[in-house]
Amino acid sequence: MIISFVWAEDKNHIIGKDGTLPWSMPNDLKHFRDVTAHHTIVMGRKTYESFPNGPLPNRLNIVISRNPNYQVPESVVLLTDKNKLSDYVDDDTEVMVIGGAGIFEMFKDDVDRLYLTRIDHAFDGDVKMIDLDYSKFKLSEKKEGIVDDKNIYPYTFETYDKI
Ligand SMILES: NC(=O)c1ccc[n+]([C@@H]2O[C@H](COP(=O)([O-])OP(=O)(O)OC[C@H]3O[C@@H](n4cnc5c(N)ncnc54)[C@H](OP(=O)(O)O)[C@@H]3O)[C@@H](O)[C@H]2O)c1
Repeated sequence: MIISFVWAEDKNHIIGKDGTLPWSMPNDLKHFRDVTAHHTIVMGRKTYESFPNGPLPNRLNIVISRNPNYQVPESVVLLTDKNKLSDYVDDDTEVMVIGGAGIFEMFKDDVDRLYLTRIDHAFDGDVKMIDLDYSKFKLSEKKEGIVDDKNIYPYTFETYDKI
């Protein structure tokens, strides 16, 4: 299984505020949809609860909680132990770990690829991205985001692969 991280962070590695994203960046949401479409996504219970319309369509949603009785719809898989992930995904599958912080920490030693949106602005927030050792990765793609009246902060889409 290939493990990828997908996230957006600000200048100071902030990723969340009050249970949601600190910014409105529709182009990044579109990028997130494109990168994760038809891939299994793995997320913490709070990130799952941050989706206004429930599980994301057209992909298996796996939610991690310490509460084995946490209620999810039938289409969603609840895990209390990351080692059970292999019961739900094939060996040749790219699994998209989409946060938050505790879940990135949990998969830190397993991650093969990073899809990072870097937003060049400082926001208020209460959740930060974990420290990653970028010396173990090489930048394989970098694309400037288009700034317009709905996406007002400069941003870049970066992809890193484990060396
Ligand atoms: N910018 C981005 O790309 C991005 C990405 C993801 C999230 N976010 C933002 O970040 C915030 C949410 O992130 P978060 O870090 O606060 O929460 P989170 O990681 O989404 O969820 C935390 C929950 O995951 C479960 N969990 C964590 N570690 C676990 C472990 N070792 N074993 C079993 N379950 C475990 C626990 O659920 P229980 O409490 O149910 O046990 C814990 O409360 C929101 O503001 C969201 O919008 C931003």
